[in-house]
Amino acid sequence: MLKNKKLVVYFSKVGEQYNVGIITEGNTAIVAKFIASAIGADIFEVKVKNDTYSASYKTLADETLREKKIGARPNIVGDVTNFDEYDTVFIGSPNWWADMPMALYTFIERHDWSDKTIIPFVTHEGSGLSSIPAYMKAAAKPKAMLGGFEIYGHTAQNNRDETYEKIIIWLKNIGF
Ligand SMILES: Cc1cc2nc3c(=O)[nH]c(=O)nc-3n(C[C@H](O)[C@H](O)[C@H](O)COP(=O)(O)O)c2cc1C
Repeated sequence: MLKNKKLVVYFSKVGEQYNVGIITEGNTAIVAKFIASAIGADIFEVKVKNDTYSASYKTLADETLREKKIGARPNIVGDVTNFDEYDTVFIGSPNWWADMPMALYTFIERHDWSDKTIIPFVTHEGSGLSSIPAYMKAAAKPKAMLGGFEIYGHTAQNNRDETYEKIIIWLKNIGF
């Protein structure tokens, strides 16, 4: 089977979000869609099944910190059934408490990454990548990992041209 396809997998949250008010398209979703369209990749959104996350940022912050502390693995909606066809997977995450949303661990731990290259990207409000690439690597044990991309969530949300340009420059730098 040919294994030269690219996939963008991401988690992103709509509703009330830090620094940007109530949003209908998540910050990481914006970046994910730009990457996928720039390189012609498939795209998959990791969504929590029967999502009970609070729409309010403050309550969500408490809920997700609790999830992180207990190492929760929330059920997710659907899956990438043709995962074998991809050689490179971009994984996009909001920075939640210097980590990924636990649902991304659910997705990562479900798949075999031994023949994949992972390329992380993160939106945040000041913490940058934190140790997220290292956590992805530890969870997935991929064949390889290429340098990650980070951008402020409010930049992705409010300055889309600037965001797209930064993504294109980064993609070129890593060989796309
Ligand atoms: C639960 C929660 C925890 C967060 N923790 C951090 C953090 O530790 N550091 C940081 O820079 N931003 C933090 N943020 C801000 C998000 O990383 C930022 O708003 C991101 O762009 C959200 O992406 P999304 O719209 O795709 O979900 C947090 C946001 C939420 C909702």
